[in-house]
Amino acid sequence: MTQKTIVIGSDHAGLELKNKIVVYLKELNYEVKDIGTHTKDSCDYPVIAKELSQLVANGSYPKGILICGTGLGMAITANKTKGIRAVTVSDTTSAKCSRSHNDSNVLCFGERIVGEYLAKDIVKIWLDTEFDGGRHSKRVNMIED
Ligand code: RB5
Repeated sequence: MTQKTIVIGSDHAGLELKNKIVVYLKELNYEVKDIGTHTKDSCDYPVIAKELSQLVANGSYPKGILICGTGLGMAITANKTKGIRAVTVSDTTSAKCSRSHNDSNVLCFGERIVGEYLAKDIVKIWLDTEFDGGRHSKRVNMIED
């Protein structure tokens, strides 16, 4: 069986939650590429978001997760890369619909916004939900155009 792969990144404000999510993803049997940051030193979230987005857009990884203080700057930056559909999520229903309706490929959330348990539930439902296709395909294609 091929192992599932995913790429993850954070800035300093998302570091602690990222480290917990990395452990959780491994428990879910994901091979995890952690592109950093790896210290509490202040860093710039656009650098991390751009690097991760390019890895997803070029097919190196099917999906990615970005964590900063709010999840906002990461998503704003990630969506500048063609082919990226990044969402900032702080509830499980939005996480699920972002996959089934929008085929989101980058999940963003904020360490200052969601707690560890909710973040894990968001990650699990986001990973487990398939894109519905059908009428949603046309709309997702319109985003790309
Ligand atoms: C860092 O202080 C904070 O601005 C960043 O983590 C993020 O929340 C930006 O959107």
